[in-house]
Amino acid sequence: MEYETVQGTAVPKIGLGTWQTDGQETYGAVRTALAAGYRHIDTAQAYDNERYVGNAIHDADVDREDVFLTTKVRPDRFRPGRLKRSVANSIRRLDTSYVDLLLLHWPNPLADLRETMEAMADLVERGDVRHVGVSNFSKKRLMKAQRVSPEPIFTNQVKLHPFKPQRDLLRYCQDSNVLLTAYSPLGTGGVLDDDLLRSIGTRYDKTPAQVALRWATQHRNVVAIPKSTSEDHIEQNIDIFDFKLDRDELDRIARPDPVRNGLAFAKGSIGI
Ligand code: A2P
Repeated sequence: MEYETVQGTAVPKIGLGTWQTDGQETYGAVRTALAAGYRHIDTAQAYDNERYVGNAIHDADVDREDVFLTTKVRPDRFRPGRLKRSVANSIRRLDTSYVDLLLLHWPNPLADLRETMEAMADLVERGDVRHVGVSNFSKKRLMKAQRVSPEPIFTNQVKLHPFKPQRDLLRYCQDSNVLLTAYSPLGTGGVLDDDLLRSIGTRYDKTPAQVALRWATQHRNVVAIPKSTSEDHIEQNIDIFDFKLDRDELDRIARPDPVRNGLAFAKGSIGI
């Protein structure tokens, strides 16, 4: 496993995403991932699966302190009192005493961002949360969060994959020591049929998914959280640290290409 160190904290380059999984499926995926060597798990209040994530970490043969655990606050819970109560409930459901990273799940223009970030900072002070961050924030919103937050913004979690390389936002994150956590790094499956990823994969004996994940995580300040419930895929997605894409491949993978993008769009796999 490789790590990305931001603001003095090391984060495993690959984590398990649990969006759109629930119940025993979540439990099984997290157990499989921990057994395969994952030490980074991502959940959210809105996924309705925190309980299963917590049970799986509890039952697995791992120390809680060795797992980097992220959850996210639902945007209708950004008022300070509500936010603090909801995070206390998340921590209880996760069967832990703290989360490593607490994110605002997506922007809520009706909430006062300063007040919200101050409430998040109180949770850091109390030891309930190690780091705070945001998700689905544009560069402009991220800059505002950085201005008003008493605690440094650790992460902006956004969609990033070969058809959506987020160049501008990534450069900004790199320049300001913010981690970019890539969700849907496989374009929710949309990049898997890509001919270029396939042909590059042949060179290293890797699948298109592995090439896409290697591409994302070879960037400075980027970690990725592919979602999977299949044992084979979960194992495959962490088996990307024994090869290295060269400069030319990195550039080619992210080159805007109307045909590649068009195909992905046609499949309805690429959202905003
Ligand atoms: P599955 O759960 O059957 O593995 P993303 O992380 O970009 O949102 O993509 C998630 C989708 O990609 C899921 O449908 C998941 O299905 C599939 N997937 C995840 N890993 C792989 C892999 N290594 N090969 C093929 N499909 C994968």
